[in-house]
Amino acid sequence: MHLFSGGGFLITLAVAGASNAALSNPSFGPSLNGVQTLQNSQSLKAPDDLRLLSNDVFTVLSHSAFPHHSVRVKRSDFCDGTVAAYTGYIDVQARHLFFYFFESRSEPEEDDVIFWTNGGPGGSSSIGLFMELGPCNVVNSSSTEYNPYSWNERANIFFIDQPVGVGFSYADYGEIVSSTEEAAVDIAAFAAIFFEHFKRFTGKPFHMAGESYGGRYIPLFAAAILDQNARLVEHGVPPVNLASVMIGNGLSNYLHMLQSWYEIQCTPASLPPVESISSCVRMKQAVPRCYKMIKEACFDVFDGLGCGAAKLFCESELVNIPAERNPYDLSRKCEGELADTLCYPITKDIVAYLNRPVTRALLGTDAIPANYSSIGWDLNRRFMALQDEMHPTQYYLEGLLERGVRVLIYVGAYDFICNWIGNERMTLNLEWTGQSEFVAQPLREWKVDGAVAGLTRSVGPLTFATIYGAGHMVPHDMPKESLELVKRWTGQEPL
Ligand SMILES: *[C@@H]1O[C@H](CO)[C@@H](O)[C@H](O)[C@H]1NC(C)=O
Ligand SMILES: *[C@@H]1O[C@H](CO)[C@@H](O)[C@H](O)[C@H]1NC(C)=O
Repeated sequence: MHLFSGGGFLITLAVAGASNAALSNPSFGPSLNGVQTLQNSQSLKAPDDLRLLSNDVFTVLSHSAFPHHSVRVKRSDFCDGTVAAYTGYIDVQARHLFFYFFESRSEPEEDDVIFWTNGGPGGSSSIGLFMELGPCNVVNSSSTEYNPYSWNERANIFFIDQPVGVGFSYADYGEIVSSTEEAAVDIAAFAAIFFEHFKRFTGKPFHMAGESYGGRYIPLFAAAILDQNARLVEHGVPPVNLASVMIGNGLSNYLHMLQSWYEIQCTPASLPPVESISSCVRMKQAVPRCYKMIKEACFDVFDGLGCGAAKLFCESELVNIPAERNPYDLSRKCEGELADTLCYPITKDIVAYLNRPVTRALLGTDAIPANYSSIGWDLNRRFMALQDEMHPTQYYLEGLLERGVRVLIYVGAYDFICNWIGNERMTLNLEWTGQSEFVAQPLREWKVDGAVAGLTRSVGPLTFATIYGAGHMVPHDMPKESLELVKRWTGQEPL
């Protein structure tokens, strides 16, 4: 899920036996019983029309410009209780991407739209929704409670399970997605269809946000949307108003993260060193060697075999977090077994909550997958087999910056996996018009209610920020600071 990103290895190795037996036996769950169909979005013009959608059955929206795509959506008061909530699927031929959409608690007509995805690869966005930034938090296997720090305080927000094969998203005939490049095609279609049908949000500033492996997903997704806009205009469809990308504890450049694993474990970059001097000496010697191996076999030229061997060697040399520590937050002990709870036992309650028939009926999920799971292990393995994390991501960020798309890289300072040092290094090395000005700027403190919340550096469209006291999942650990960050960012105020 969001958590193990660069550390796909951590979880993948630990739970090699786990599998997502998703596509078999569609045995329960409300399916498409009683569907209303609205042809073309023309029939949904008035701003409030969406609110007239049925709570009980899906309404199907389609549009002549997208003959192979449609949206199924139903209304509910799910999770938030104070705003309109929607759940449904974007159907891209035989692929079905499940989403939740919550209107803003403030002024839905005025506020921006945020897209959220967790990482993994293979992680369901239910983690972000139910334990980080969503309108409610799961408190046990049968209940949720209102989250006053939800990002929909000031934005309309959707959470999507992607790619197909993750969470509630599935494909009819076993179609699979094995790389971020492929996943981006469905997401670009998703964004176009969403804005075409959700008329009250058409043209609203759109922010694409994600965490962890989202550092790889989001730059490619945003680029695909920008590149797709030309085609939308040709078809007379309004372009998606892509305003920014927001990446939390992301993995956008493996090479830089690899170097920083040493610094986080062996220097006081975040907390006092967590490793013995002798293992730090060994690690220090491996760093230049690993940098060279990974650079040559994975980045300069992609040599699958060499790259795989280098990754295996370097991760075993450089990732030595003691088992009792939480690799997503070095200030904490791991609660439960990493492989079982990801160090956060609430993740198990979220899965149990989403597997309750009453929850599934409320959401209107299809009968597939029979059992919801928060991690699509098959997908995770396919991405890792292709070494998707080694494909260049930084160039996409550079392309976005050069086109004026704002980029926020924020990082909880206690994370090991996708830590702040590696992310800072990634931002400093981005080659774009503002690079020298960005590099020349020192980090400065930013504050929330007069208290220092972290460090930041910002030039033009690029902002880097750390959040003190937070690990990998910033909104979970520092909810107030995280909401304030999002409010300032979407409000285009400096931090
Ligand atoms: C879940 O939490 C709710 C609210 O705190 C409580 O009423 C309920 O008994 C709890 N259920 C379980 C199974 O713990
Ligand atoms: C779903 O979970 C139930 C209960 O744990 C189990 O009995 C069943 O075999 C699972 N179904 C699939 C298709 O994995």
